[in-house]
Amino acid sequence: MKRIILIGFMGAGKSTIAKELSRELLLPLIEMDSKIEEQAQMSISNIFAVSGEARFRELETSILIESMKKEGVIATGGGILSREENKEILKKEPFVFYLEASFDTLYKHIKNDNINQRPLAQGENIAYLENLLKERVASYKEVASKTISIDNLSIEEVVSKILMEVKEMTV
Ligand code: S3P
Repeated sequence: MKRIILIGFMGAGKSTIAKELSRELLLPLIEMDSKIEEQAQMSISNIFAVSGEARFRELETSILIESMKKEGVIATGGGILSREENKEILKKEPFVFYLEASFDTLYKHIKNDNINQRPLAQGENIAYLENLLKERVASYKEVASKTISIDNLSIEEVVSKILMEVKEMTV
């Protein structure tokens, strides 16, 4: 059973890269935020606004547990490692790729993204986001099987880097 899991901060391109990888590897795409929205019948922003972040994190863990029973390329949300339980689940997985980028790259992507609504990135609070990234970096590195630096790389370049790593890790 093959599962490729992408972790990293908001704006790292997890969903876009997961979509391309799933196409290349002929594996189903599992976009966790979309699954959470389907399950809650509500947008991520509304879950945060109506039920709070704690409820969102509960849903996120339950979708993570479900996803770990399936084959696929899995795009997680940037805060997936906020819960210790999720970290333990992901540490057991052999193909966890951390898409690492500088804050400048991530912030540029977040600012230019008009599609995804991110409750934690509202109001362009740069200092808050930069601090959140600093808090999370150690966990991303701890859980990742491989770190992929994405600064200055195109989507295609990141995808082929990951495909090469998967190949090397499988032989
Ligand atoms: C979050 C990141 C979002 C989404 C939610 C919370 C976070 O996913 O899960 O808004 O805590 O960093 P993306 O990383 O896909 O933006």
